[in-house]
Amino acid sequence: MTAHIGPAGDPRSSAVVGLQWGDEGKGKVVDLLAAEHDAVARFNGGANAGHSVVVGGTRFSLHLIPSGILHPGKPAIVGNGVVVDPERLLEEIDGLAARGVDASGLVVSDRAHVVTPYHKLEDQVREELLSKGSTEQIGTTRRGIGPAYADKAQRSSAIRVGDLLDVALLRERVERSWTFKAEAIADLGARAGVTVEVPPPSAVAARLAELGERLRPRITDTTYLLHGLIAQGKRVLFEGANATLLDVDHGTYPFVTASSCAASGIGPGTGVPERCLRQVVGVMKAYSTRVGRGPMPTELHDERGNRIRERGREYGTTTGRPRRVGWLDLVAVRYSAMVNGATSLALTMLDVLAGMGPIRACVAYRTGGGGGAATDRFVPDGVRLGRVEPVYEELPGFEAEIAGARTIADLPEPAAAFVRRIEEFVGVRVGLVSVGPGREQTIRV
Ligand code: IMP
Repeated sequence: MTAHIGPAGDPRSSAVVGLQWGDEGKGKVVDLLAAEHDAVARFNGGANAGHSVVVGGTRFSLHLIPSGILHPGKPAIVGNGVVVDPERLLEEIDGLAARGVDASGLVVSDRAHVVTPYHKLEDQVREELLSKGSTEQIGTTRRGIGPAYADKAQRSSAIRVGDLLDVALLRERVERSWTFKAEAIADLGARAGVTVEVPPPSAVAARLAELGERLRPRITDTTYLLHGLIAQGKRVLFEGANATLLDVDHGTYPFVTASSCAASGIGPGTGVPERCLRQVVGVMKAYSTRVGRGPMPTELHDERGNRIRERGREYGTTTGRPRRVGWLDLVAVRYSAMVNGATSLALTMLDVLAGMGPIRACVAYRTGGGGGAATDRFVPDGVRLGRVEPVYEELPGFEAEIAGARTIADLPEPAAAFVRRIEEFVGVRVGLVSVGPGREQTIRV
């Protein structure tokens, strides 16, 4: 019999979520906070997320594995809300092993959904078709994320990680998935003018079974595992992948990903209720970036944008695409902080703004053209947000490099004033400022 797991006592767990369009530097914040927690858990997204970590002097990209894996021995949990591409997951496990990283703590929910080759093909052909004259190409990572979540909702064509361990059931499910999807994918491909080879279900099932066998020791009921840890008074760090403005409900729909990226995704994505959380750390950059399509009111198309991109090394971890760059959008950040119930902010990449001249921050949107009304409310709609004009506040810039700052007092006054202005506008305190990629390049406030 399983031991009874009672209600959690004091809330001790934490969440780290992105407040913009991703790539806010969550990996570094998770890395710092993981040291103060007993386990790390992912609750959403899939191999679309990307964080670079430096292992043994080499940069390594993780997509599915929680970045907290770099704290050896701690459970690193891939929750039921994640969509798992087993090929990629095993590649990452092998990559870590080759670098001598102990990934023994990594476990995967038996209820997480599987990203199959059909999902990846479907993602590709849908994007190709949308690119033909449509303005609504989402610019996905083509990792099969949207189709996998769509099938989770469809049920009849979905496969869960636990199914990988039952060969007869798996064959049946892959066969059924193929029945629903193969013709549609080929047809979409033909209409998009691309040739697609949809692999037969026998081959897909055989490969998935092989991968499932390798993952077998790691597949478990992560809901009971998490509640067991929490009942023992352990602290779990929930890592949000992607970010709030990409959340399928709260983001700039339809230019979003397919999962619940805000802290509200923790419940459905792990089975852990929100009252177990002590803190929600909202991570934000000192400016804005976005990968893929969709509105970004503060986007810069000039030399300042290029400078920020180069200084901030703003190129995608997952796709290598140059990121779109713009000024900080405080209207958007305040909205995201509200949706997440952020208890503190982690401000990253502040060092990138050194030497940029005066700094701008968007504090309202003008709707309905130049002389139109201004609002300080975010517009969580991909089309309507594309029509607003940003209203900026200009703040004095700072010239000196700040990568060596270790306390707020080390910052030049304009940089410290920028931090205070963010706190004041968002209404949430800044608990951490990052001034470079290194662990030590951090100001804890
Ligand atoms: P998908 O998640 O591959 O369906 O892509 C949907 C949109 O979300 C695209 O614009 C992607 O570039 C973006 N996206 C998804 N995950 C991330 C992320 O972790 N960081 C930044 N952008 C992301």
